[in-house]
Amino acid sequence: MRLERRGASLVARTPAKLNLFLEVLGRRADGYHELETVMVSIGLYDTLRFDPEVSGRLELSLADGQSRQGIGAALLPIDDNNLVLRAARLLREVTGCLLGAHITLTKNIPLQAGLGGGSSDAAATLVALNQFWQLGLSPAELHSLAAQLGSDVNFFLDSVPLALCHGRGEQIEPRRLSRPLHFVVIKPAVGLSTREVFQRLHLTREPRSSGLLLDGLRSGCPHAVGQGMSNALEAPAVSLSGEVAKTLDCLRGVPAWGSLMTGSGSSCFSVFAHAVQAARAARRLRAMQCGQVFVVSAAI
Ligand code: C5P
Repeated sequence: MRLERRGASLVARTPAKLNLFLEVLGRRADGYHELETVMVSIGLYDTLRFDPEVSGRLELSLADGQSRQGIGAALLPIDDNNLVLRAARLLREVTGCLLGAHITLTKNIPLQAGLGGGSSDAAATLVALNQFWQLGLSPAELHSLAAQLGSDVNFFLDSVPLALCHGRGEQIEPRRLSRPLHFVVIKPAVGLSTREVFQRLHLTREPRSSGLLLDGLRSGCPHAVGQGMSNALEAPAVSLSGEVAKTLDCLRGVPAWGSLMTGSGSSCFSVFAHAVQAARAARRLRAMQCGQVFVVSAAI
């Protein structure tokens, strides 16, 4: 994320992510699943603006021109269940801080899409309010709070371009991206609930390893990247929604390094070596009308 001071306001740009690999290693006693996943940060952003609130209240609103209907946001809680407000409250709870803030959200990252928008917003809230309220929490303390908010929040805290993640997804090993990558992302009309997708999962096969993908990313080998990309949640997501299968069919009809669903869906993406190839593929995919099409890059 990028933080910028604008007068009395602090503005954060919060990126989305894609899972280039996601394997489920087992079911845990706490109801979660043990994962191995490779996440890459992409250039599709929400914006959060933090302004002082003298009343001491915590308030969250959508930016002018954004209605909850407009962004499909019957799904976007703007009340206490919103991850941004939960992050802000958690910070106040653990520090005893009584300061308020007015937070304005500009939502561009689709919801229930496997793109981590809510998690990225929560991570930015922790980092931004730690600075805005001068709380002085260390990176390790912020990571501990991030893990309480959701499995993907930790990935976004340190703004790393690429990471291998374990545990629920919250244990992060940053990796270097040796070259820029380009993506076409398609968000079908339906969204999927992470919890429901995990409930449909049957752990039957031997777990795959992310080794081939990471080698391919390091060497820039298209074959290794394509073969190494895999997502154990794809089959359960497809069983929940035919739209995911349709989206993958569209993507797999256009040459790319590889195509995959991200996270627990419903968005799917293809990987390209060059921006012009991604732009050309996006033109073909828009004509197929399989959903909202984004052309994005992962920066080194
Ligand atoms: O952690 P987060 O709130 O993002 O997870 C949403 C839901 O997804 C969890 O309640 C759980 O049902 C499922 N989940 C899981 N194993 C994970 C991550 C999420 O079972 N590693």
